Amino acid sequence: MSIPPHGLTQDEVLSRLAAYRTDDVRWREGRVFSLVYHGGDDVLAVAEQAHRLLACENGLNTGAFPSLRRIQQEILAVVADWTEGGDDAAGFLTSGGTESLLMAVKAARERGRTERGITTPNIVLPTSAHAAFEKGCHYFGVEDRRVPVGDDWRADPAAMAAAVDDNTVLLVASAPQYPQGVVDPVEQIAAIAAARDINCHVDACMGGVTLPYLQRLGVSVPRWNFAVPGVTSISVDLHKYGYTGKGASVIIHRDSRLRAHQVFITDNWLGGLYGSPAVLGSKGGGPWAAAWAVMHFLGDDGYLRLTAAARRAAVELADAIADVPGLRLLAAPDTTLVAFAADESGPTGAEPVDMFAVGDALARRGWYVDRQGPPPSLHCTVSAIHDGLIPAFVGDLHAAVDEVRATGATGSALPYGTL
Ligand SMILES: Cc1ncc(COP(=O)(O)O)c(C=O)c1O
Repeated sequence: MSIPPHGLTQDEVLSRLAAYRTDDVRWREGRVFSLVYHGGDDVLAVAEQAHRLLACENGLNTGAFPSLRRIQQEILAVVADWTEGGDDAAGFLTSGGTESLLMAVKAARERGRTERGITTPNIVLPTSAHAAFEKGCHYFGVEDRRVPVGDDWRADPAAMAAAVDDNTVLLVASAPQYPQGVVDPVEQIAAIAAARDINCHVDACMGGVTLPYLQRLGVSVPRWNFAVPGVTSISVDLHKYGYTGKGASVIIHRDSRLRAHQVFITDNWLGGLYGSPAVLGSKGGGPWAAAWAVMHFLGDDGYLRLTAAARRAAVELADAIADVPGLRLLAAPDTTLVAFAADESGPTGAEPVDMFAVGDALARRGWYVDRQGPPPSLHCTVSAIHDGLIPAFVGDLHAAVDEVRATGATGSALPYGTL
């Protein structure tokens, strides 16, 4: 491939791009259980138009674009409300959950260094916490101390407390964690952090929008947000259950004093004073505009409706898995994430099926589900689009398991990200 010697027409460029998408997963039809969160064609249209409106504006300098400053402030006010942060809560928009988590690690490291002179920082986190924390530790020279989860897949506060020492700058809880979809005991973990006056980040990238609406829908929700003493920051992804386009997440701190540790500032170059709240420098206004637009288009009742739909589908799926011979649910979903593995005890007396081969068999039937482990398992991030599709999926899941059992096929794990 090389650049065309002469520019192509707009039609040609766009039709070539459209052709590139032929083999992409079919998220608009709800055949994908991760990666894309589709709130409906009307939501998508609003997101696309809003994105176009501010696609070239640059969030690097909101002084030049007061529109983006205002968009950020207004989004943060909504997220402060969802997280019960009140007027003191202060945050920034980021490009996604990973950037938010990187900033949680960075802010904790900085606070440890400034307030306590820590030069060899560590963070304590359960084995279920997202890989991006690990990435943050790798980037920022922080030791990561992974602590095994309990039998119920939730973080084990006692084991975490035992891993903490004088160089610990951060404890992590997730609401919910990705692999099994359970909410960690945030109150107990935050209490350990509060006793030492160190940071406690709640990764609510998955649950930050869903949990407040589930609570209003009458679902029993464990305490997870700033109402819990000791929680210092929370990440909430808008491009997941906020149903906005990709590139929008929030990291929000209990107050601006804690937020200050997130910001990088230098004047040690020839370009003047440089201030940067997160990883990126230049950043398109498109994702911010799309997020603001979708949040206002959906409104409170829209999120209530979409959360109810996603939850209905998740519970339906979780209940149905129990009826698929040879499969077992890893945990009852606290929100909308459903993970399942082969039943080792094998109710049929047969060998456990290879879950990744089941993933392959589902893919041949047009479904895309995430693969993970240990233990080898499949993971469904259930969202509103799946409401009404679960019977079709479960029918194919039965067929996929039968096929793998009959053929003895084996499959491979496939990476979560891109290698
Ligand atoms: C709990 C949790 N945290 C963080 C992330 C990372 O988010 P992103 O892919 O937007 O970087 C994910 C992604 O699925 C997640 O499930």
